[in-house]
Amino acid sequence: MPMSDDQPYIRFIHVSKAFGDTPVLDDVSFEVRRGEMLVVLGRSGVGKSVTLKHIMGFLRPDQGEVWVAGQEVSSLPEEALLEVRRRVTMVFQSGALFDSLTVAENVAYPLRERAAREHTIGEEEIQARVDELLGRVELSESRDLMPSSLSTGMKRAVAIARALAAEPECLLYDEPTTMVDPLMASTVGDLILKLKRQTGLTSVVVTHDMRLARKLADRVVFLVDGRVAFFGPIAKLDACEDPMVQAFIYLDEKPLAAVAPS
Ligand SMILES: Nc1ncnc2c1ncn2[C@@H]1O[C@H](COP(=O)(O)OP(=O)(O)O)[C@@H](O)[C@H]1O
Ligand SMILES: [Mg+2]
Repeated sequence: MPMSDDQPYIRFIHVSKAFGDTPVLDDVSFEVRRGEMLVVLGRSGVGKSVTLKHIMGFLRPDQGEVWVAGQEVSSLPEEALLEVRRRVTMVFQSGALFDSLTVAENVAYPLRERAAREHTIGEEEIQARVDELLGRVELSESRDLMPSSLSTGMKRAVAIARALAAEPECLLYDEPTTMVDPLMASTVGDLILKLKRQTGLTSVVVTHDMRLARKLADRVVFLVDGRVAFFGPIAKLDACEDPMVQAFIYLDEKPLAAVAPS
């Protein structure tokens, strides 16, 4: 289905979702424009990953609609969902790289899959594309290394390159800076920012890291108890009076204030 450029790329319209008796998403509405980076903020267990799974069509809402690239994904048959999942890629899905493949072969994987499917690209083009992608994530030197010898941050960069290899329209990042030290978190955040500027891809970043949100977000959805406590430009988040939002902002700034000379 064709989609005009001014139509949001992703739309949640009054989405509710419960697991058994436990409500997780409660009347959630937001949208992501083409080329925009939306950050989904909130505490652990608030429904951030569940939100991403609705975008991919892995979960269907109990109520409401989820639109992606001009289609209502919650009503699509499985075959059409496969097509949506080619256009929208989860960067750390199943998190892991293939441990028995080199960095370069990990990045080549989606290209080889496509070559097998479409018979359009040859080995030379695959290698050229891999080199270009590794350059983009600053891993050219590591192309022949095995994932086990990389730092967590470098592994995430490889995962990003692998996701880009599939040439998606939209990237979904689930907790890109979790489980890495603050310096590495900053490096991964810088890389995502650089790619955002270079590629202009639509993207959704799920995190509880306020610093990352401030670095990356055009707009923010802040989830509290499964509902949207704030949706708007990151610059307006500080004015949001929801106590949970204020607690996040306060805890984020506190360490800085503590080391600042008085
Ligand atoms: N497939 C599922 N079946 C049952 N409960 C689930 C399922 N997926 C997530 N949940 C529950 O939904 C809530 C939100 O999960 P999640 O979106 O993973 O949180 P987070 O914001 O940390 O990513 C949690 O309480 C989780 O246990
Ligand atoms: Mg999660």
